[in-house]
Amino acid sequence: MKQRKILVTGALPYANGELHLGHLMEAIQTDIWVRLQKLRGHDCICVCADDAHGTAIMLSAESQGISPEQLIETVKQHHQRDFADFLVEFDNYHSTHSEENRLLTESIYKALDANGHINRRRIKQLYDPEKKLFLADRYITGTCPKCNAEDQYGDNCEVCGSTYSPAELINPRSSISGATPIEKESEHFFFALPVFRDMLKKWTRSGALQEPVANKLSEWLDEGLQEWDISRDAPYFGFEIPDAPGKYFYVWVDAPIGYMASFKNLCDRSDYNFDDYWKPDQDTELYHFIGKDIINFHTLLWPAMLTSAGYRKPTAVYAHGFLTVDGTKMSKSRGTFINARTYLDHLNPEYLRYFLAAKLSSGIDDLDLNLEDFAQRVNSDLVGKVVNIASRCAGFISKGFAGSLAKKLDDKELIAAIQAAKNEITEHFEQREYGKAIRLIMALADKANQYINDKQPWVIAKTDKQSPQLQEICSTGINAFRLLICYLKPVLPRMAQQAEEFLAIEPLQWDDIDRLLLDHKINKFKPLMTRVEADKVQAMVDATKQEYAQQQAAKTQSTETDSSGLEPEIDFADFTKVDLRVAKIVAAEQVAGADKLLKLQLDLGLDDEGSPLTRTVFSGIKSAYRPDDLVGMLTVVVANLKPRKMKFGVSEGMILAAGPGGKDIWLLEPHSGAQAGMRIT
Ligand code: MSP
Ligand code: ZN
Repeated sequence: MKQRKILVTGALPYANGELHLGHLMEAIQTDIWVRLQKLRGHDCICVCADDAHGTAIMLSAESQGISPEQLIETVKQHHQRDFADFLVEFDNYHSTHSEENRLLTESIYKALDANGHINRRRIKQLYDPEKKLFLADRYITGTCPKCNAEDQYGDNCEVCGSTYSPAELINPRSSISGATPIEKESEHFFFALPVFRDMLKKWTRSGALQEPVANKLSEWLDEGLQEWDISRDAPYFGFEIPDAPGKYFYVWVDAPIGYMASFKNLCDRSDYNFDDYWKPDQDTELYHFIGKDIINFHTLLWPAMLTSAGYRKPTAVYAHGFLTVDGTKMSKSRGTFINARTYLDHLNPEYLRYFLAAKLSSGIDDLDLNLEDFAQRVNSDLVGKVVNIASRCAGFISKGFAGSLAKKLDDKELIAAIQAAKNEITEHFEQREYGKAIRLIMALADKANQYINDKQPWVIAKTDKQSPQLQEICSTGINAFRLLICYLKPVLPRMAQQAEEFLAIEPLQWDDIDRLLLDHKINKFKPLMTRVEADKVQAMVDATKQEYAQQQAAKTQSTETDSSGLEPEIDFADFTKVDLRVAKIVAAEQVAGADKLLKLQLDLGLDDEGSPLTRTVFSGIKSAYRPDDLVGMLTVVVANLKPRKMKFGVSEGMILAAGPGGKDIWLLEPHSGAQAGMRIT
């Protein structure tokens, strides 16, 4: 076999928050693939880092009263500890706020500039005169210039779906200070992305990308690419652009370069050679595992930057979908926005690794962690099938044969059949079709259990504890178990290690599948995995809810002492004019042509005459919710809002939601004891 030289990266988590199970899904997907390659004997390295720059991190540190350096240091420690505890093994974990990254970013920028791919021009942007900060679109809110909907974000209206520049907003405000932004001009640096259109058209169709990803990109490539704004004005937490005082690299410039920097940092203390992996025309492979939300950066900007600077392009970029919990977007109030640490406080990391592996595919569909399914799946497969094989056979071997396995098998065909699945299982793992691999492995486990049922070793043991046939049957069972453990080792490294101790063998490698374990003394069996307990799962959900309640309480307290950012006070009389009701969403559908909107049918109980009270409402929550998931949910509606004619129809009210936008919008959900129509007082 030719040994492959492979460099893998996982997307770099932002250094301003804790890891949650969504991050872990990505890391586990990556880790399983890397472990497989290592077990096969390939030279595979996986690097990652924290993504430490940007306005969000600067503001977050400020609000905590610490320096950005302090914030990113603490968060990095948490991230590394959480990954390690989930058995995610990186060969190096670095930070984008590092010397290696500064040098690489500067040198790549200088190459881009020398090639004439950097253009400078003055642009006007909104500026917060109180905070003395240029405002990214997401930090500006105001009234839509087209439909007059209030509180819309800087670049598009979630109510009427129109897009505009933030400067067109009526009555715009900075969501940081509440101040009215002013327009201010400054010089920006642009990367000439359109120059790379032909290269990208070819590369995106070269097999480096998943088919649906390539299709989506070809739409953009046909519509035409824009130059990419790579600079930000001070104050900014990042790297200053050489010879441009007060100008910083936009965080997404040095973030992917952070992959290189983390690898460089590894090279500096190992035998790996940087150029072997980053110069063109090497026989090494480079893979990026990422979520579907960051495809553009990795498949358009990144390959273009690499090309301009004289580096290779990735062998492939593997995008995955999002993790949902119990059928919907992870929700803090429902207790399903689960932090890595909260999970670890209650449950075994290998449960999650197994469950995700059983559900992962090579596609970009979202993956649901249904918590009931989770417990059931792990219990029935791992405890009920795999571990069971060993526990049914091991006792007879220790009691009757002093721990020694037989010199030959009772059923060669069974073991040969398990070994024969090797190529197919390897290929499924290699193609990131983990679910298919797991299904095959479990079918083999079923076969092994069936074999034990048929042979009934316990019946033989009743008459003769030392019968050679008993020893051969149980040795067949133990061999089946050993092979299944080897197949599962990329997914369950800790359980595999415990099994190796039990079997008294060296760490299993992939090719050990081709061998048998005979005439060998094993150790006493200890249960390798216990069942998932439902009350532990519930405790994790409860703990998540509690964390959220505490956060909310802390927020309220801080707004009491510092009221900046609040709307002007209103009288009680103004407040009572708003008729808030509990509404049940009875139907939800997409709106053709609208980017942000969903059309909702609401049940508001009965009116004073006893007839059903309903409302049709258009709501800008499409980026955060799937229509099917909304049906049946309770929420809160402003029931007496004057109907408004919008581009797509008349909206008869407004439902209440919170969050900064995009994926992060959460519908307000009354406690499940509430009923449609109840007044909110
Ligand atoms: N810092 C950027 C990535 C820079 S890579 C050069 C970033 N950070 S992130 O913390 O927001 O996300 C890190 C990774 O986690 C991304 O690949 C993202 O898609 C993934 N996920 C975040 N939430 C997720 C789920 N709910 N489900 C699955 N993956 C998710 O983006
Ligand atoms: Zn509008």
